[in-house]
Amino acid sequence: MKPLVDRFGRRITYLRVSVTDRCNQRCNYCSRPQEEHKERSQVLTFSELTEIISVMASMGVEKIRFTGGEPLVRKGIAELVRMVNAIEGIKETTLTTNATLLSRFAKELKEAGLKRVNVSLDTLDAEKFRIITGGGRLSQVLEGIDAALSEGLVPLKVNTVVMRGINEDELASIIDFARERGISARFIECMPMRDGFDWKKHYIPISEVLEREDIKERVAVEEKREEGGAEYILPLRDGSGRVGFISPLSNRFCERCNRLRLTADGRLHLCLPRDMDVSLRDAIRGGADRESLEAIIRKAVELKPKEGEYTFSTEGRKKSMIHIGG
Ligand code: 5AD
Ligand code: SF4
Repeated sequence: MKPLVDRFGRRITYLRVSVTDRCNQRCNYCSRPQEEHKERSQVLTFSELTEIISVMASMGVEKIRFTGGEPLVRKGIAELVRMVNAIEGIKETTLTTNATLLSRFAKELKEAGLKRVNVSLDTLDAEKFRIITGGGRLSQVLEGIDAALSEGLVPLKVNTVVMRGINEDELASIIDFARERGISARFIECMPMRDGFDWKKHYIPISEVLEREDIKERVAVEEKREEGGAEYILPLRDGSGRVGFISPLSNRFCERCNRLRLTADGRLHLCLPRDMDVSLRDAIRGGADRESLEAIIRKAVELKPKEGEYTFSTEGRKKSMIHIGG
């Protein structure tokens, strides 16, 4: 096997697969109120998806994370998880979800071989939740989390996008909520990922989060940071768990980037904040066999940039976060 390595020597072992660009919520930072969706015919079929993943697995991709939109609105998602787990070389499948449908799917997903889930949770206040998500119900999410825990989709993480004036005062309670359930909380800097969201108004650097008294009380901020994936991790003071921090804007991790993303309509998206991609769907539908698909993927990876570049102006972005899957 010849590994998939980019121009900067970074080996690609992780693929985030957006299985749909649809979502049953409309989070302010992720999706425009009226987002356009791809026609079903434009979205990769399960057989096209498994073909692409299988070619990538033969080049050393081991870990798949299913994202969306909301991955659980894709019909047959558990079946897809099962198919992907059966691909030679795939060692782990995980999923990032808003958890509104998770109580319905947790058991099936576990049975299909899914290892664990990350759940978006920006607030524990039902009214605030409704506003952030454009009408979502917090109670469904909490039920979804409970179901995932009882099915053993663990370790479970909650993703919290930190937003000034919206949830900065709730971070400590989210840590406590997570700690009581054996979950890790993860705080993410708000990124300029969709046209029309007043991102600057809400952005708070993680460094500022770590200076908050209610956070310092709980998190051992003076400890050495452990780095993993896109996050760094600090222990809780009472030893009961850990908290992750993702700071794409203030503290970059591009140097150790090992990932690619596949959009629902089959574009290999090379770097989260950049609108750079290569369509694998067009290749497959044009009759590319495994060998030519492999060549196209290797060539695409050559284009992977050294670092992400956040333009700080979200105007004219082609893709919102809802199209890329985080
Ligand atoms: N900034 C930071 N995080 C975001 N997410 C979605 N949009 C943004 C954004 N603009 C995160 C959500 C979700 C994950 C898939 O991506 O927290 O959990
Ligand atoms: Fe949907 Fe997740 Fe985007 Fe919210 S953040 S709109 S739940 S995809």
